[in-house]
Amino acid sequence: MDKKTIFGVLATLLIVLMVPGYGLWDGLVRQKTAKEGFLASDAQRGVETYIQFCVSCHGPDGQGKVDPQYIGLPLNPIYRNQLGLDELGADVARKTIARGRPGTAMPAWSVEEDGDLKDYHIRDLVTFLTTWEKAEHLLKEALAHRAAAATPIAAPTPTPAVPATPGPAAADPAVARGKALITGQGCGACHTIAGVPGAAGAIGPKLDGIATAAANRKPGLSAAQYIEESIREPAAFTAQGFPAGVMPKLSLSDAQVRDLVAFLLSLK
Ligand code: HEC
Ligand code: HEC
Repeated sequence: MDKKTIFGVLATLLIVLMVPGYGLWDGLVRQKTAKEGFLASDAQRGVETYIQFCVSCHGPDGQGKVDPQYIGLPLNPIYRNQLGLDELGADVARKTIARGRPGTAMPAWSVEEDGDLKDYHIRDLVTFLTTWEKAEHLLKEALAHRAAAATPIAAPTPTPAVPATPGPAAADPAVARGKALITGQGCGACHTIAGVPGAAGAIGPKLDGIATAAANRKPGLSAAQYIEESIREPAAFTAQGFPAGVMPKLSLSDAQVRDLVAFLLSLK
């Protein structure tokens, strides 16, 4: 064999070996990128659920009761450290979210426990909570985005100084979930409710004492029926002195409506 032939054979061998090698390497990189992508989108969905249902007790920074405005335990590792809590394990997180902590203000959220969260919601939440440091920026961005979107409605009011106390409301998970929904659904942009962080709006009536007022709003309707109608069909009745057609008809599940009614009925 002359030199040219040897070179040719070597070059061919090299190419034959490189192609599948490159393919394998490329495949691994893609797999890793895809996995990171899935994790990020799971965490992103977890963030949305966190803002809707959890932020009112666990705080926008996951600080929990490190800040007296919030009553939940810290979920952000930095604040967990401050209270000497262990790292939040996936198993503890999943079970606590699904079943709640009976005897505390932490409600049960799973559908099996009459809550509103399906398995995949809980899985996404757990992904977010257990990768807090990496995913924190998603929460910050989502909150900033909402704040910007809400500015035209919600006057920039300071957060009420009233600390959120568990009170009698804490005993009933439906009431606790309903309270969280007030923040999560943005009701507080238009309604003031003492003790609910961020509920300081003045476009709609104050909802303190609504359980009592609602009993006499519409003849023939009990307080519960009136409150439910106000949420499901805002146009059915307009509270005196307030603009008609402003209260939005939100797309809420039956479970969410029930939890909101339970909470509002606790405001005697
Ligand atoms: C009404 C207030 C409230 C809401 C809303 C709430 N929590 Fe909690 N949560 C608590 C309290 C209080 C505790 C501490 C319970 C205890 O003392 O063990 C807690 C504990 C937890 C724990 C256990 C932490 C640990 O270190 O053991 C997790 C995880 C948790 N909550 C996640 C969530 C998630 C996720 C949501 C939203 C779906 C949520 N919570 C909504 C009040 C709340
Ligand atoms: C964009 C502003 C806005 C938002 C957001 C809003 N509301 Fe309202 N709401 C109003 C206005 C205005 C009224 C009074 C006029 C009427 O009765 O339709 C009202 C009335 C009510 C009433 C009847 C109060 C009374 O004194 O008779 C209830 C209960 C109520 N809202 C609950 C809620 C709940 C729960 C949410 C969140 C799921 C919510 N609202 C979100 C503006 C809002």
